[in-house]
Amino acid sequence: MESKYITLSFFIFFLHFITLSNSKSIVKNLPGFDGDLPFTLETGYIGVGEGEEVQVFYYFVESERNPSEDPLLLYLTGGPGTSGLYPFLYQIGPLSFNFENSWKNNITLELNPNSWSKAANVILIDLPVGVGFSYAKTWEASRSSDSIVALQSNEFLRKWLAENPRFVSNPLYISGISYMGIIVPKVALEIYNDNERGNKPQLNIKGCLIVSPLTDKFIDFNSRIEAAHRLALISDDIYKATKETCHGKYIHNDPENILCANNLERVDECTNRINFSNILEPLCDETNMKPTCRVTFFLKCEAANIFVDAWTNNKDVQKALNVREGIIDKWEYTNTSIRYYLDKEDTIYYSYNVFSSIADHQQLLAKDCQVLIICGDHDMTFPYVGTEKWITSLNLSIESQWEPWFVRKQVAGYQMTYAQSRYSLKFTTIKGAGHSVALYKPEEAFVMMDRWLASHTYSSSSL
Ligand SMILES: *[C@@H]1O[C@H](CO)[C@@H](O)[C@H](O)[C@H]1NC(C)=O
Ligand SMILES: *[C@@H]1O[C@H](CO)[C@@H](O)[C@H](O)[C@H]1NC(C)=O
Ligand SMILES: *[C@@H]1O[C@H](CO)[C@@H](O)[C@H](O)[C@H]1NC(C)=O
Ligand SMILES: *[C@@H]1O[C@H](CO)[C@@H](O)[C@H](O)[C@H]1NC(C)=O
Repeated sequence: MESKYITLSFFIFFLHFITLSNSKSIVKNLPGFDGDLPFTLETGYIGVGEGEEVQVFYYFVESERNPSEDPLLLYLTGGPGTSGLYPFLYQIGPLSFNFENSWKNNITLELNPNSWSKAANVILIDLPVGVGFSYAKTWEASRSSDSIVALQSNEFLRKWLAENPRFVSNPLYISGISYMGIIVPKVALEIYNDNERGNKPQLNIKGCLIVSPLTDKFIDFNSRIEAAHRLALISDDIYKATKETCHGKYIHNDPENILCANNLERVDECTNRINFSNILEPLCDETNMKPTCRVTFFLKCEAANIFVDAWTNNKDVQKALNVREGIIDKWEYTNTSIRYYLDKEDTIYYSYNVFSSIADHQQLLAKDCQVLIICGDHDMTFPYVGTEKWITSLNLSIESQWEPWFVRKQVAGYQMTYAQSRYSLKFTTIKGAGHSVALYKPEEAFVMMDRWLASHTYSSSSL
């Protein structure tokens, strides 16, 4: 009798332990959405790192088409520091705000017709630690870096697949946006290498998909001057003079070079009132909320930030998402102490220790790997100009020349494909889109992703 009791209590203790380190649940309803969710949403925590001291929160949306065959996309949100909930509610996820029928304290959600979950199984995660609902159990574990995020993403994925084994054989793509261009290739490479080392289970990695990537902390920031010229923000004369006097080096330039500094100042005068997320959008900051900024799209962005904050900090929402109680004081959509900007030094929380992911891209050339790079051609954050530069530096042969691609018979952007044995890279622009491509051109972004995934999934299964 007593031993039975001990076994039972031990079992309960064990169960408790398991549910604390890894836990998942299916979310059937969410506040703001009327009725049952018409898609399968799983949320939970996966413990990674030493002693699983980092608890990674995730949102998994099953494909609404054919979950057992559709690709599996791990999507890393930029910043670093932005929560996976942001793209879930506002870019590529299954839900979005019904702006007309929402108030700060009464938010209505609606379905996103261009959700990437219409074509793929999508996992959005809160990484690095300290972002969204992810947290550390110790001070040491709360510190992170580019290379730690890459390792932890990989560990997360393996553990998640161990808990969800029915997705192990789906074609797997590592994807992400913006700063994650530094990290995505590293995660993909690690998975290829793990497979080659014979690690079990073998993951069916097919490649990566990166939106508006930061790839090289020199090339991408440096390319802004040329982008400003191509986008008609600076004149031929200013560009020529700046290029000559700075010798094409516009960041980390020689402070003694007065001519270059003067020219850069002219460039700055022309661009410092430009919204780098999308040069067509108005610039608004806290100190300057001019009425001219109150155009619809901008208002929507502002409202989205207010709504996402109000919605996520509602206790009922956290309960519905199965967030552990009492751990996060206030959810913030982005952790500003982790977020990167040009030349930001390491902080106590985060080390920006990968300068460039070009070397990782080079190593991927030897793999059976498909890469899709999507850029909004009105983005000045990481302009397509810099992306073209590092892609060219890979010395790949061109499979198809620069050409327009279409959605509803209209030019949606331009594309170009490179190939080398079993590797291919498609570079595509989306016309008129800014940095968060899916925000500005949701249908075009979805169509490109879907067509590209479909072309590889079907061609590889028919081979
Ligand atoms: C919240 O908004 C919905 C949709 O606009 C409306 O039907 C409902 O009455 C509102 N609830 C409250 C408490 O204001
Ligand atoms: C940002 O991340 C750090 C590091 O994990 C964490 O200590 C801090 O609480 C986070 N800040 C916010 C506002 O979430
Ligand atoms: C740039 O425009 C976007 C909307 O496209 C807005 O969300 C963002 O706040 C703007 N940025 C600045 C610095 O004004
Ligand atoms: C690409 O080609 C250029 C010129 O032929 C050469 O200098 C460079 O080292 C090559 N880069 C790679 C990665 O092979």
